[in-house]
Amino acid sequence: MSNFIDWSDKISVGIQELDEQHKHLVALINRLFEAMTEGENKAAVAKEIMNELIQYTVIHFAVEESLFRIFEYPDYDDHCRHHQELRAQVMEINKKVQSGERMVTPELLFFLKKWITNHIMVEDQKYAPFLLKKGVKRSWVKDSWVGKFWSFGH
Ligand SMILES: [Fe+2]
Repeated sequence: MSNFIDWSDKISVGIQELDEQHKHLVALINRLFEAMTEGENKAAVAKEIMNELIQYTVIHFAVEESLFRIFEYPDYDDHCRHHQELRAQVMEINKKVQSGERMVTPELLFFLKKWITNHIMVEDQKYAPFLLKKGVKRSWVKDSWVGKFWSFGH
């Protein structure tokens, strides 16, 4: 089965560490899509994946914001405001999903797809050239922590 969101160069920011984290967010939304289309026990699995999506989003945004502070990114306030909005949106949705007030529908999946891809393609693309100029490495050779502690619970 093809992915709900395909990774492509259009989404890449050209910095492997951050791309790997973005890929993990994309993978979580793809998992959610798969769970809704072919999984058993859909509601329970959806809740689990949504929780993980929130946790990882919080961590990923914190990593980006740390980098911005370390390198004194001039658009820090603006970017953090975007993060704050995105966090609030998805937390609100998750609260409703966890309580059963809201189901994971195709509409919600498309919202999440736009939620992540728009942010990466618009806001995140802006910081990449800045960080690279500051000496942040395009790629690393070490094993990353990304994905290691995040296994979708099974
Ligand atoms: Fe960001």
